[in-house]
Amino acid sequence: MTKFSFAEQLNDFKITSEWLARRGWSEAAGGNMSIRIDALTKLHEDDHIKLPVEVPYLAGKAVLLTGSGTRAREIGENPEPHIGLFKISDDGLHYGWIAGNHNPSMELPAHFAIHNALERHRPEDKAILHTHPASLISLCHVPGFDNSKTISDNILSLQSEARLILPEGIGFVEHELPGSLELGLKSAEQLTRHHLVLWQYHGLLATGETLAGAFDKLEVFEKSARVYWQLRAAGIDPVGISEAETRKTLAAFGRLNRY
Ligand code: 13P
Ligand code: ZN
Repeated sequence: MTKFSFAEQLNDFKITSEWLARRGWSEAAGGNMSIRIDALTKLHEDDHIKLPVEVPYLAGKAVLLTGSGTRAREIGENPEPHIGLFKISDDGLHYGWIAGNHNPSMELPAHFAIHNALERHRPEDKAILHTHPASLISLCHVPGFDNSKTISDNILSLQSEARLILPEGIGFVEHELPGSLELGLKSAEQLTRHHLVLWQYHGLLATGETLAGAFDKLEVFEKSARVYWQLRAAGIDPVGISEAETRKTLAAFGRLNRY
């Protein structure tokens, strides 16, 4: 296996995977992660693989991506064998393997489509994390929780600081085939406004400057979802903080413009 050395990024994969495993959010080989980097190596033309989507904003860049079937609990112990380095060609139409794990996540189309959108709209967000928390998947089975506004309003109103951290709410993509380009393109569209996107009946996708930063936002949403389920389990119909109070809080912290 060709070796590579991105110590800072590998440590981000390691720490975040440990936490995903500890929380039980990435069961078995569930979930995947990637970090966008500026690549140094040139991609040889013989190694070109046609991309399912054109990614002009990623031309010449590279992505560290978890391998398909890799487990968070094992990445948390030793990340290197589980992560591959993939370079995007200068025309943004092809990619190729450079080093590390050869067999990329089946969500490669989503990761590439989303990195392309992030590079364009929010270049500071270099990390993408996808995982399967039960409390969030369960939300998709509540009648009416089938759009961004309903889920954001009902869940992020259950804890005083949730909407402060996620003023724009969470994005939502209706059920699509795992690994499909449609899932990736719809997510990329949602992520121009949101940092989190709920994949209906599947899981969550989060972006951040680092994987640990993406995990923070995921954790905030997941906490509010757990408050929701605890209330429901106790037979209480959640009321939530009023819109007027939410607006007051956001205004006090200068975030009302993102609501
Ligand atoms: P991979 O192991 O191929 O990354 O797939 C896991 C997953 O969660 C697909 O959505
Ligand atoms: Zn998944």
